[in-house]
Amino acid sequence: MINKIGIVGGGNIGGVLAAEIVSRRLARNVALVDVKGPDLAAGKCLDIAEAMPVYGRDVNIVGAKTYDILAGCDFVINTAGVPRAMRPDGTFPSREELLAINLKITDLVADGINKFAPGAFIISIANPLDAIVYRLFKKTKANPARIMGMAGVLDSARYKYFVAEAAGVSVENVEAVVLGGHGDTMVPIRSACRIYGLPVEQFVPAKKLDAIEDRTRNAGGEVVKLLGSGSAFVSPAISALEMVEAIAFDKKKIVPVCALLQGEYSVKGLFVGVPALLGAGGIEKIIKIKLTPEEAAALKKSVASVKKTCAEVDAAK
Ligand code: LAC
Repeated sequence: MINKIGIVGGGNIGGVLAAEIVSRRLARNVALVDVKGPDLAAGKCLDIAEAMPVYGRDVNIVGAKTYDILAGCDFVINTAGVPRAMRPDGTFPSREELLAINLKITDLVADGINKFAPGAFIISIANPLDAIVYRLFKKTKANPARIMGMAGVLDSARYKYFVAEAAGVSVENVEAVVLGGHGDTMVPIRSACRIYGLPVEQFVPAKKLDAIEDRTRNAGGEVVKLLGSGSAFVSPAISALEMVEAIAFDKKKIVPVCALLQGEYSVKGLFVGVPALLGAGGIEKIIKIKLTPEEAAALKKSVASVKKTCAEVDAAK
């Protein structure tokens, strides 16, 4: 059991995270920070605490507007930021268009972590994902093995779900991975997609797979459009907890992680989604997988897009 998990951002993702941590009995203590008033975080925590007798759980859960409650956290999950929302004309912004506003929030989060939870594992979910985790890394100077973004678990889950649906098999039979940035250029890796260990093409025609991969790239937007306000929140929260559990239980689990690359996949100094082995040390290893020439080219394009957004981060001092 983890001693303490901190969550920054008491919106929809933060709320699901807190409730799910209690439900799984994953940590003895949970701290939720949100600056929104009157005291959103305290309200969410009180709601969850009052369900504790029904859950049958005795987790100590505290919400506040100030970062000091993060003291002693083993993990900090960052969800703080404005989500994508549909505009009155029915369109919605790209994740990258959230950069300016969410960078300001990220800098406050970094300050809070530096002051009260230095050394904690940091898992960031806020968008634009790759750029926000890059900024958090620059501002916290965290050990690269202990700071990461959650996107690949979610993007891969979406890919798996669509493939399972098309093949008419259980989601548990599908292996799939999505790499690269968490934007429209993300790269579903068809050559690594398997159903019961067999190539996916044996179950789903290539044309259908093209459509599924397209839907995967746009899946976040599809949910934004349906919701009308805000973005997906259950699937991102559950995906982040998959990473927390892999580390906390030293599972040595290989999952796609937005990790700092230091030469792997020919990338240096950027956070990009790649397969990584998660264990007690955090990111213990970046796993190199063989890509087809098309997949390698798509990954290169995705990295270029992450690089562009990170250049904007560097420019915004
Ligand atoms: C999504 C947002 C959370 O992909 O990035 O749904």
